[in-house]
Amino acid sequence: MSQIETVLKETREFAPSQEFVARANLQPSEYQRVFAEAARNPIQFWEGAARNIDWFQPWQKTFEWKEPHAKWFVGGQLNASYNCLDRHLKTDTKNKLALIWEGEDGHTTRLTYQELFERVCQLANAMESKLDLRAGDFAAIYMPLVPEAVVTMLACARIGVTHSVIFAGFSAHAVRDRINDARCKVVFTADETYRKGQPLNLISIVRQAVAECPGVQHTVVLTRNASTHLSGREVAYQAISEAQPKTHTAKPIDAEHPLFVLYTSGTTGKPKGILHTTGGYLTGVNQTARWVFDLKPNDIYWCTADIGWITGHSYVVYGILSLGMTSLIYEGVLNHPHPGRIWEIADRHKVTILYTAPTAIRSFMRAGEEHPNKYPMASLRLLGTVGEPINPEAWIWYQQTIGKGRCPIVDTWWQTETGGIMISPIPGVVPTKPGSATKPFPGILADIVDENGKSCGPNEGGYLVIKHPWPSMARTILGDPDRFRDAYWTRFPGMYFTGDGAHKDAQGYFWIKGRVDDVINVSGHRLGTMEIESALVSHPSVAEAAVVGPPDELKGQSIVAFVIPKDIANLTDLSALEQSLKRHVANEIGAIARPDRILLTRTLPKTRSGKIMRRLLKDFAAGKTTSGDTTTLENPNLVDLIK
Ligand code: WT7
Repeated sequence: MSQIETVLKETREFAPSQEFVARANLQPSEYQRVFAEAARNPIQFWEGAARNIDWFQPWQKTFEWKEPHAKWFVGGQLNASYNCLDRHLKTDTKNKLALIWEGEDGHTTRLTYQELFERVCQLANAMESKLDLRAGDFAAIYMPLVPEAVVTMLACARIGVTHSVIFAGFSAHAVRDRINDARCKVVFTADETYRKGQPLNLISIVRQAVAECPGVQHTVVLTRNASTHLSGREVAYQAISEAQPKTHTAKPIDAEHPLFVLYTSGTTGKPKGILHTTGGYLTGVNQTARWVFDLKPNDIYWCTADIGWITGHSYVVYGILSLGMTSLIYEGVLNHPHPGRIWEIADRHKVTILYTAPTAIRSFMRAGEEHPNKYPMASLRLLGTVGEPINPEAWIWYQQTIGKGRCPIVDTWWQTETGGIMISPIPGVVPTKPGSATKPFPGILADIVDENGKSCGPNEGGYLVIKHPWPSMARTILGDPDRFRDAYWTRFPGMYFTGDGAHKDAQGYFWIKGRVDDVINVSGHRLGTMEIESALVSHPSVAEAAVVGPPDELKGQSIVAFVIPKDIANLTDLSALEQSLKRHVANEIGAIARPDRILLTRTLPKTRSGKIMRRLLKDFAAGKTTSGDTTTLENPNLVDLIK
C-alpha cells in the first residue's frame, strides 16, 4: 500500500491567506460553533440549510428514518428548476450569465438566467404538450456537454420527470440497459459531438440502443449537422421547443419525489441506478457549494466534469445554479488542440474557481509547466479536486503552478451515492494538507472503523463510514431496495459504508485511500471489475477473465485483464485477439472501460473454493512480488501466461 506510506510522510500544512479569510462565506469565528452544533444536532443544522431553498409548501417533518430509507423535509413542496431559475429573476441575477458554453472549436454561447429560463420553459412546455411527459415518468438524456443538456435536465425537473443522464461515452448496450432499467419514455440526444476535432456520431448509438427499448416513445434529437435525417419516432429538439411559450409555471414537487437516477458501478452484476430525491438533494448541494466553493456573486465557476457524472449534476447544474452563479461548461478535450487548452479557457473567461480531477492535474503536470505559464490566470482564487485521492506531488503542483500559492485547494471527497460533498476543507477556515480531504462538512458524521465497526485510533487504517443520515443521500437503488441495503447498510450495523479505506491523523484529518472492494477508479470514475469481466466472457474466444486495477501514475488505476482463451491450442495471432478483446469491451461498455493491457493466460490463481485471488493478480499486474498469504491457492502456478 505505497499510497498510504506517501501520505503518512506528508506533514506540510497550508493556512488560507488573510485576504481570503477576510471575505470567506463561513468565518473562522463561526466555524467551531457551527461545526459543534451540527455534530450535536445534524437534523437541526440541515433544517437551517433547507431555509436557503425556496419552498412552495413548508415541510411538516424534517426527518424520517426507517433504516436504510431516509425521508427529509416530509410534506414539503418545491421545484428544483424554480430554485435554479425563477427565483433569480426577481433580483439582478436575472441578467447575469447562468451558463457560458465553449465548444472545442472555440465557439462560445452565453446565456443569462432570463435566457436560460425561457429555454427551459419552452422545452418543459414541449415535453408536456408534444411528448406527453408527466410527473413520475423517466427520461434519458444522452447528450454532449452543451447548454441544451442543462436545459433538458432543468425542464425535466420543472415538470417532475425524473431524468437519467447517461454519459455520452457509453456504448449502445450500456445505454439500452440503463434506458430499460428505468423504463424511460423519452430519450434526449444529439446527432453528434466533437472530440479532438472529429465529429462523433451519437445518434447511431442511440438508434441501436432504442431498437431494443420497447418503452421508448420518442427520441428527441438536437441536430447540429444539417445533413442529419430523422425518421420514425425521432423529432428534432429545435422543432418541438421553437414555437413554445417562453413561460411555464413550475410544478410543486414533493420533497421526496425522485429528481434523478444516475448509474454507478458496484462489485457485482449490473450498474446500480442510484436514486436521488428533490428537497434533501437540493439542500445538500446548495449548502456545500456555498461553503466549499465560497461562492460570491461575481465568481466565474468552472467544473470540468461532464453532466454524465454526479459531479456534473451537483456542481455544474443544481448546486451552482441554485446559488445564482455563472457556470462555465466546455464541450471538448481539455488538452486539445494544444496542451494548454484548459489554462487558455480559464484565463480567457476569467475563471475564479476551477474544479477538476487529479487525473487531469497529473496529465497537465506531465505536459510541463510552460503551458500554464503562458496564461496569467490572475482571476483564479480557489481550486478544487474530486474523484480519487490526489497525490501530494500533484497537489503541490496545482497549488504552486496553477494557484501561484494564493488559492486554497479544496480536495473534496464524496460519491454518486452521497449526492454532495462530504469531506472537504472549508476554505478560509480549515488549513489544508496535501493529499488529505481534511474534515467532514458540518452535519456529516464521518468516521473510520475497524472490521468490527469500532472507531479506529489516530493513523490506524480502516473503513470509512457515515454515522448519521444526511439530506442528499441516495434513497435507494432503483428497483432493488435489497441491494441498496446489502451494498451500504449491512457491513456495519447502523452505519453507511462507503466502500473506501481511510485513516485519520492525530489532528482528525481524513486521508482517503480509495476503494476496498472489487471496484476500480479510472480517471476519477468507478468501474465494476465484474462488468468488464462479463463483457470479456461474452466474447466468443474467451473462456474466463479476471480484471484488476493496479495503480497508474496518470489515471489513478489502469485496467488490466487476465484472460483465458477458449481454444488455446489453435491460437495463432495473439495480438489480433488482444485488439479484438479491447474493441469488444469498448463496444459493450464504452471506451472508458477499454482494458489498457490484456494478459492471455492458461491459469488464474484461485482459492480451493474457486474464488479468483485478485490481490495476487493485482500485485502481479503492478510488477510486485506477492507477499501475504497464498496458502489457500489451489493452483501453485500464479499465472501461466501464454506469451
Ligand atoms: C469514489 C466515488 C464524487 C464524484 C466523482 C466520483 C473516490 C472521490 C475523492 C477524493 C479520494 C475520492 C472514492 C469514492 N473519490 N473523491 N477527494 N479523495 N477519493 O464519483 O464515481 O461515485 O466514485 O471516488 O473512492 O468512493 P463516484
